[in-house]
Formats: sequence, C-alpha cells, structure tokens
Amino acid sequence: MSGPEKITSTAAVQVPHKDTVEFMNPEKKEIISSFEYLRKLFIMPDSPDKFIEFGHQMLETIHDFFKEKGGIHSSITLPELSRIFDETAVPDAPNLIKDVLAEIKLKVAAHSVKVGSPYYVGHMTSAVPYFMIILEMIIAALNQNQVKIETAKASSFVERELVAWFHRLVYNRSESYYQKNMQNPRVALGNVTSGGTLSNLNALLVAREKAFPPSGSFPGVREAGMEKALRHYGYDRGVILVSARGHYSIRKAASLLGLGEQNVITIPADSKHRMDVRGLCRKVDGLQSGKEKNKTKIIAIVGIAGNTETGSVDNLTKLAEVSESVGTHFHVDAAWGGAALLVDECRALFQGIDRADSVCIDAHKLLYCPMAMGMILFKNEKDLNLIKQSSQYVIRRNSVDTGRFTIEGSRPFDSLKPWAALKIIGREGYGLLFKRARDNTDTFQEILQRRRNFEILNSPELFILIYRFVPQQVKKQLYAWQAGKKLSEPEKREVRKKIGKVNHIINALNIKLHKALRLDDTTFVSRTTLESTRYRPQHITVLRSCLINPLTDRSILEEIVKTQNRLGMELWPDFEPAYLKALNGVRKNFAGGRGEQEQGRWAL
Ligand SMILES: Cc1ncc(COP(=O)(O)O)c(C=O)c1O
Repeated sequence: MSGPEKITSTAAVQVPHKDTVEFMNPEKKEIISSFEYLRKLFIMPDSPDKFIEFGHQMLETIHDFFKEKGGIHSSITLPELSRIFDETAVPDAPNLIKDVLAEIKLKVAAHSVKVGSPYYVGHMTSAVPYFMIILEMIIAALNQNQVKIETAKASSFVERELVAWFHRLVYNRSESYYQKNMQNPRVALGNVTSGGTLSNLNALLVAREKAFPPSGSFPGVREAGMEKALRHYGYDRGVILVSARGHYSIRKAASLLGLGEQNVITIPADSKHRMDVRGLCRKVDGLQSGKEKNKTKIIAIVGIAGNTETGSVDNLTKLAEVSESVGTHFHVDAAWGGAALLVDECRALFQGIDRADSVCIDAHKLLYCPMAMGMILFKNEKDLNLIKQSSQYVIRRNSVDTGRFTIEGSRPFDSLKPWAALKIIGREGYGLLFKRARDNTDTFQEILQRRRNFEILNSPELFILIYRFVPQQVKKQLYAWQAGKKLSEPEKREVRKKIGKVNHIINALNIKLHKALRLDDTTFVSRTTLESTRYRPQHITVLRSCLINPLTDRSILEEIVKTQNRLGMELWPDFEPAYLKALNGVRKNFAGGRGEQEQGRWAL
C-alpha cells in the first residue's frame, strides 16, 4: 500500500488556520500521485502487514476515543470547529492513509460526541457492542449492493431472513406461511430501509396506493398523481391521523407523497402521552359526517409503539378497531419500541400490533446497532407489489431483485448487523439488556424522587423518563393548587392562571438548567416541550432521558442527578423573585392543603 513518498518540510504543507496549528503533523509526508500507488489502494496488499498496521492504528484510535476522560461533547466551540474544517476545495494531491487516519483522530474523533458514555442518557443513540465495528468492516469489505441479486447474492437472503424473523414477532403467522413466503421473490414481507423516516414513508406510500387504487379508466394514484386521484374518487383531500406525539417523519412523508403537511391531522395525546382514542373517534366521526362527509379520504391511522419523546405506547387494539371500522390502513410506528417484541415480558405493551397493516422497527435504536437501519413490515405479503418498480438494466420485471420493492435504490448490507447481533446476543440476551434498561429507568426515577427537587412527568414504558427540576416548595405549591377543592369558578380561573405563571418560570429554569448541563458536559440528558403532561394543555419544558446504555448503573445515575440538582439550585435564586411575585395575589384560601404552609413561608 505504500507508494513513492518523500518527507516535506512543514512549510510545504498547506499552512493551516491558526486555530488548527495543534493538528499539524510535522512528519506529514507528501506523496506523488501515480497509478501504481492508487491501484494498490484498491486491492488487498500482497503482504497483509500494511492492512494489519492500519487496522491496528484504527482500532487504537477508536479505543483512545473510548478511554478518553473529559467532556461528552468536547469543549471545542462550533465556530472553532468551522475553522478546522474550512478548506474550500477538494485536495489535489493524495495523502498517506496514515496521515489521514491521524487527522481523523485529531480533528474528528477528538470532537465527536461520546454517545456511548454511560453518562450520556439523553437520546436514543447509545453504546454499541464492539463486534458491530467488525461487522461494519465486513459490510464495507463485501460492499454488496442490496438493490439487485447481481450485486448482492447471499446478502439478499440474509435480509429476507431477518425481515421474516421480525414479521413473525409482529404477526406470528404459521410456520408454513414463513416457509412459503420468506424467500419467495414474488412477494415481500417487508423492506430493510435506512431508518424510521424511510420506513414510515414506505408504509404511507403503500397506504396511499390502497386508498386510491386503479378503477375503470383511472390507472391508480401512482400513475395519475394525487390531483387526479382526488378528482376521480370525489374527495377534496387525503389525510393521515396520528397523535400529537407522532414523529415529524410522518409530516415529511405527507409532504413527499403530495398530501401536504396540513393533512396530517394530530389527535391530542392524553395525560399518559398516548393518542386520546375518544379524540380520534370524534375526529373520524367529524370527517365522515355533516359538511365534511365524503370530502376527506382517511389514508391511514398511525399508532405509535414507543413515541420519541416519552416512549409511551398507544392503545393499539383500540386504534386497530377504529381503523378497521373506517376501512383504512393502520400503520404502527414502532421505530423505537418494536425490538422489545423480542422479549416476552414486554409483549403485553404491544397488544393489537398484529392487527396493523404495517409496522416499522429500527435496528439502530433498541437493537443496539450502529447508525442507521430500519425495517418496514407488511401484514399482507402482497402489499409491496403495489409499489413495485422495474427497469431494463436492473430490477427487471421477472427478476428476483430486492430493489423492485424498495423506495431506495442502492442500499448497503446493513441487515448483517441485526442479523448477526440476534445470533450473538439472542432473545435471551436482549431480554437481559431490556431488563437492565428497565431497572435503570426505575432507579433513575427513585433517585429523582428521593432528591425531592424534581417532578416526574410520565410513567415510563420503554425506558424513556421525562421530568423537570422544580424546587420542592414550588412543587408542593403546584400540587396544592391542583388539588384545591370547593373553589368558585373565578377562583379556579385565578389558580389556573397562577399555575400557568409558575410553570412559565419553571420552564425558563429548566431551559437554563439544560444549558448549564451542556456547559458542564460531564453528563447529558435531552430536553423537549410537551403539552400532554398533568398541566395540559400548557406546554411544559422537560428533561428527557433514554436509559438504554447497559453500562449505566446506579452510581452513575446518582451522579447525574446530583449534578442536575446542584446546578438547578445554583440557578434557582435567579428565578425565585419571579416565583414569589407570581405567588403574591393568590388569596390564602386558594392554596389548600399542604401548600398553604408553603405559601405562608414563601409569600404571604
Ligand atoms: C417513533 C419514531 N419514529 C420514527 C423515527 C425516525 O427514525 P430515523 O431517525 O431512523 O429516520 C424516530 C426517530 O427517533 C422515532 O423515534
């Protein structure tokens, strides 16, 4: 792999911006382009020494990254980063691999987010088992393109096997059904996609085809487009119904499918952050009667099995009933939660999922695979035929190419990762991982409750806990106000106003706290705003934790809460005067119960 090379003086190396001086490598060698040198980059070296040397170097870089103590996000600022990556044109001359690897180590790895840190409990992105790195190497080395059998032989069958495994976990059809369809190229139980966004798009594309099928001279929406489809069927619009907790990828899909984002109708979430089924029924009735009657086509109802912000699972059985009564496509977005179907103890949460027409599940979430891979599964193995494509040079009409059924064209052999992980870890292993995640969620909740200055705002179902920092006395006051009985209507209105004002202050406090946590950078939780908490419909700023890293333990969780409590208490004096002001004017008899005492202490 080595080519003709000469050591250049540092002066010959492009002079970096002053902020990147630390990245200069005085030993950097300049190499002369030659075809022979490049040719050798494309083949396994005659002697494996170089390959192994670089392999070691790369593994050491990765290992250093994990060993490194310090901040989760690295202390470099975004403007500083923009100055490190400020070359405006493609490099002309080649660089030695080892120099580029060194550059990656210094400029990229050093400033990457340590999402695998056990103190990083803020997003769905978490630690991955080390064998995934090896699988990624195999995927790159084989470089299969899943679009067609001519570029993906065994890997096409691996993919179909994986899809069948998950189809079975969701739909549990008979052994003979899977024997017949799993590797049958005329049908598809589902697709492997690049993630939840593409899976949702795929499901809703099929739903749209089913909503406006060919009839008479009308060739179907796929051929004719939405405008003609609506005209042919006499509708003004086609809509998708999803809870307010729906992932924004549903809106993207509506836009891409020509439905328009306005036609994603959000049904309010209840105080458990699930779709309010009565709200759904009211909406459906409204769309099917009165002035709206026959004007709106309901293309799909989308249930969520593990919503992004709170992890809650919609009542899938009820949603299936409504979808069936309307005669519409029922899609379940289980991008986050779906992998929990592997574990019997979790399955009760998903009751009704087998009545869904389609279900999406991501591998880079609860299957602990690296970015990014998802699956979309269809109950009816013929549904994907509705969007089948063919062309002359690949995916020919009678070919067995996987690409006939997918939205994406070229696709990597990413299915190898969950396929191998399921063999290495097994359902039992995933059971243990999810048990650990559940225990950590319970422990986190317990620690937050013990600290008293926090308010938990959900009953976590799939390892996502939302909460906020609220000084104990304020929390007591809010609860007392909420519990206040025998108030006249004007008094209730005034109390609601006060709760609103105090929440407004606590929202600002939590935003400040989140920023302070980012600066501190020893721990990480994320932040969102929800209208479906116990204070609904008021929007409440919450801290959001995803507790799936198996390396996170009680002592780490204690540290995370301690840090949050310390920073929260440090910030509180800035907010306390506003709180006291908000309290003033509330007459004593509004305070009720335990809050009266607090109110006396703080305000009156
Ligand atoms: C419930 C849900 N659906 C869909 C998505 C989109 O998935 P992706 O980011 O893989 O496209 C997410 C991502 O977090 C999600 O939580």
